[in-house]
Amino acid sequence: MLLKSKVAIVTGAGRGTGAVIARRFAEEGATVVVVDVLEAEGRAVADILEAPAAFHACDITDELAWTSLVHDVVAQHGRVDVLVNNAAVLHMGGIERTTAAEFRRVFDVNALGAFLGIKAVSAVMRANGGGSIINIASIDALQGMNGLSAYTTSKWALRGLSKATAVELGRDNIRVNTVCPAGGNPAMYAPWGEKLSGLADEIDAYHHTRPIARNVTLDEIADVAVFLASDLARMVTGVDVPVDGGHLAGDHVRGFDAL
Ligand SMILES: NC(=O)c1ccc[n+]([C@@H]2O[C@H](COP(=O)([O-])OP(=O)(O)OC[C@H]3O[C@@H](n4cnc5c(N)ncnc54)[C@H](O)[C@@H]3O)[C@@H](O)[C@H]2O)c1
Repeated sequence: MLLKSKVAIVTGAGRGTGAVIARRFAEEGATVVVVDVLEAEGRAVADILEAPAAFHACDITDELAWTSLVHDVVAQHGRVDVLVNNAAVLHMGGIERTTAAEFRRVFDVNALGAFLGIKAVSAVMRANGGGSIINIASIDALQGMNGLSAYTTSKWALRGLSKATAVELGRDNIRVNTVCPAGGNPAMYAPWGEKLSGLADEIDAYHHTRPIARNVTLDEIADVAVFLASDLARMVTGVDVPVDGGHLAGDHVRGFDAL
C-alpha cells in the first residue's frame, strides 16, 4: 500500500496507460480521480475501481475546467497529493504535411494542458505540505524522430515544464518528474493504423535493437508512476525516467558479443 490515503488525479485515465495507472494507484491504496474527455470510458474505469474512485469529465486545455475539477476534489477529499499529467494526443506526418492547426492542437493538449494542471494544483499541494506531479512524456521527449515533429516538440516542452516547475516548487516540497515511455496504448496511433501496417518490419526493427528487445507494457509504465508518486521517491525531483528497455543506452548488434 505505497499510496495509502493519498488523493491522486490522473488525466487521460479513460483508457490506455492512464487507466492502468489509475488501477495501480487504487491497488496501492490511493483515492483516484479519473479525468478524461471520454465520458463513457472514464466512468467505466471509475466504476471498476469502485468508490472512493470517481470520474470527472474535464478537457485539460480548459483552465476553468481545471479550477472546477480541483475545487470539487478538495471539497470531496480535502486534498490533492498526486497529479499525473498523462492525457495527450498524437499527430503523425512529415513536417510539410502537418498544418499549423494540427501542431497547435497537439501542443495545446500535451504541453498547455499539463501547464494548466500544475498551475491548478500547486496552491492546494503547497497548503498540504507538498505533493508529487508526474508528467507522462515519451521517449520522444529525449530524442527526435521523423514524422513526429508536432508530438516531439510538445513532449520536449513538457519535459522543460517539468524541470522549470521542479525548481520552482521544490521549496514547497512539491516534486515534479517526467516518465518517458517507449510505448503505450496502440489506440493512440490507430488513425494511422492502415499506413503503419505496411511498416511492420521497420517497427519491429525499431523495437529489436534495444537491450530489452520488446515493447513496453502499460503496467511497466504505471509501476514507475507508483514509485514517483510514493514517499519512496521523496528526494527525487526534476528527473526524466525512461521506461524504454534501455533503448537510449545504445543499439544491440546481433552477433557482436559472440566474436
Ligand atoms: N501510445 C504510445 O505508443 C505512447 C508512447 C510513448 C508515450 N505515450 C504517452 O503516454 C500517455 C498515455 O497515452 P496512451 O498510450 O495511453 O494513449 P491513449 O490515446 O489511449 O490515451 C490518451 C488519453 O488522453 C485523453 N485525452 C486526450 N485529449 C484530452 C483532453 N484534452 N482532455 C482530457 N483528456 C484527453 C484521451 O481521451 C485518452 O483517454 C500520453 O502522454 C502519451 O503521449 C504513448
